[in-house]
Amino acid sequence: MGEYFISTDLDPRKDHILYRDDEHMVVYLGTQEGARDVDVNSYLIVSGGKGFLLDPGGYKVFPKVLGNISKYIDPRDVKYVYFCHQDPDVAGSAPLWVEMTTAKLIIHWLWERFLPHFGFDISKKGSLIHPLGDEGEKINFGVTTLEFIPAHFLHSPGHFTIYDHRSKFLFTGDIGIALLDKPTLVVENMSRHIQAMKPVHERLMASNKAIKLWLRRVEGLDIEAILPQHGAIIPKKHVKSFFNFLSNLKVGVDLLD
Ligand SMILES: [Fe+2]
Ligand SMILES: [Fe+2]
Repeated sequence: MGEYFISTDLDPRKDHILYRDDEHMVVYLGTQEGARDVDVNSYLIVSGGKGFLLDPGGYKVFPKVLGNISKYIDPRDVKYVYFCHQDPDVAGSAPLWVEMTTAKLIIHWLWERFLPHFGFDISKKGSLIHPLGDEGEKINFGVTTLEFIPAHFLHSPGHFTIYDHRSKFLFTGDIGIALLDKPTLVVENMSRHIQAMKPVHERLMASNKAIKLWLRRVEGLDIEAILPQHGAIIPKKHVKSFFNFLSNLKVGVDLLD
């Protein structure tokens, strides 16, 4: 029904439509810059004419995120801004989104009262934050259902991944990230990419038990691509080897002695 546009020659410095059908679209917002700081991947889902922004990033990328969203929808039509967890590379721009839109902010309940420390006042706008419970939930958005799948301690306590039932994309936040030398949007050589993912997962992720619990939730899904918040998108043909890599990986407290 829909069309996919995931290829290794996409320029990571530019925005791209990754999936599109008549009523639904997923956009990569062109947020990789190849600077000294860690590159982030921000995404926009447009469904039924409204926007769902995933992991908008910090202050620095805000102008680019805003400008690129404007190519697809009026930024005031962004109805939700989602943060997979509380880190500044994910949520640092939160005050600007509060200022610019009437969007609800979605984050795990634990972070609801930490988030305002980025610089906004929740008491003024009432129920501005939609807190996710430990078990996650499903939200109907436009023509899709977004499933918030818990991935606690991978790496944050209160970390979530999202499965978009329409595009069949799995947005994995800090799971599947890699710190790469040059901007790259789509994985080309999977065995080389696994070597780039390994050290950061070993240090960032809490334990293999947490990984296995998450894998149990996602392995049965029909996945077109894995879309992490840093590094490169893992296309369908490499998803199985990505899950194998994770399943066997010792991380965090597993490696402490
Ligand atoms: Fe993080
Ligand atoms: Fe991150």
